[in-house]
Amino acid sequence: MPVETLEDKVIIKDSRGSSAEIYFFGATVTSWKYRGKELLFLSKKSLLDGTKGIRGGIPVVFPQFAKAADSSVETAALPQHGLARISKFEWGGVSVDNESEVSVRFGLNDSQVPENLRKVWPKKFKLIYTVTLNDDTLKTNLSVTNEDIAPFDFNVLLHTYYSIPDISKVSVDGLFNISYVDKVKNFTTDIDNNQSINFTQTTDRIYGNVPTEIIKININDGSNEAFLLRRTNLKDTVVWNPWIDNAKNMSDLGDDEYKQMVCIEPGHVTDYITLKPKESWEGGQTIQYVTLAIGHLS
Ligand code: BG6
Repeated sequence: MPVETLEDKVIIKDSRGSSAEIYFFGATVTSWKYRGKELLFLSKKSLLDGTKGIRGGIPVVFPQFAKAADSSVETAALPQHGLARISKFEWGGVSVDNESEVSVRFGLNDSQVPENLRKVWPKKFKLIYTVTLNDDTLKTNLSVTNEDIAPFDFNVLLHTYYSIPDISKVSVDGLFNISYVDKVKNFTTDIDNNQSINFTQTTDRIYGNVPTEIIKININDGSNEAFLLRRTNLKDTVVWNPWIDNAKNMSDLGDDEYKQMVCIEPGHVTDYITLKPKESWEGGQTIQYVTLAIGHLS
C-alpha cells in the first residue's frame, strides 16, 4: 500500500522504496527516507503527542515567523512561529498515486485551530498542505486562502531540518553575496564574503529576497551527497543551527544533537503577504537528494 493512514500520522511509500511520514499535528513531515536512508532530522527528545511543536522534520510556520517585531501587527499575540505547527490538520486524502509519485493532502481551517490561538488571531482561513514523494525528491507545497471578509497579513516558512552526519563538515552554496539579518548579532545586516556557508558557531540568519534558483546543501562526509533545494514563491531563506549553548537550553533537543542537524528554511518572512477576501496564495519547496559524483542517483 503506498499510503497508510494511522491514528496520528500518514506514511507514504514510493514504488522504489522511498518513504515519508507526516503527522496530523502541524502536518509536520517527520521522516523522509531515500530508499531506506533517513534524510530529515528529528530530535530524540521531540514530543510527538501534540503538546508542543515537533522538534525536527518540516514544521509549517504560519501566519507569523518568530515573534512579531512590531507589537501593532495583527499576528503579534501569536506564539513564536504562529499556529499551524501546533494545530491538528485534517486528512485531505491522496491526490496522486501512480508509478512515479505519491501525493497526499492535509487541511486546516480556523475552526480547527485551538481556541486560545483563534482568539488572538481571529481570521477565517484555509490551508492546504500537499506532500509529494518521488524517489529522490520530496515536495511540500502550501496554499493559503482568505475566507474572511477583510484582508489579512501573514508570513510563511517551511522550517526544514536536514539530517546530516556532522555539522562541522556541512557547507551551503547559493547564498553568496546576498544580504542577511543576523539574529545572533542583534539583528544587524551583513553580507558573507565566503562562497559557501560553514558552521562553527550559533548561526541564525534571515536572507531576504534570495534570487538563487538552487540552494545546495553539501554533506561533505566523503559520500558526495547533497540536497538541492528549489523554492516556489518563497523569496526568503532562514539558515539556523543552535550550536551547543542554545541546544543545552532547549528541553526538546539533546545537547549534542545540533551536530546532526541543519535548518535551511525557505519562506516569506521579511515582510507580510497580504491576502484579500477570497484570494489564495501558494508556495513551496522541492528538495532533491543527489550524489554529485555520478549526478542523479539511480
Ligand atoms: C528559526 C529561527 O527559524 O527557528 C530561530 O530563526 C529559532 O531564531 C528557531 O530559534 C527555532 O525556533 P523554535 O521556536 O522551534 O525553538
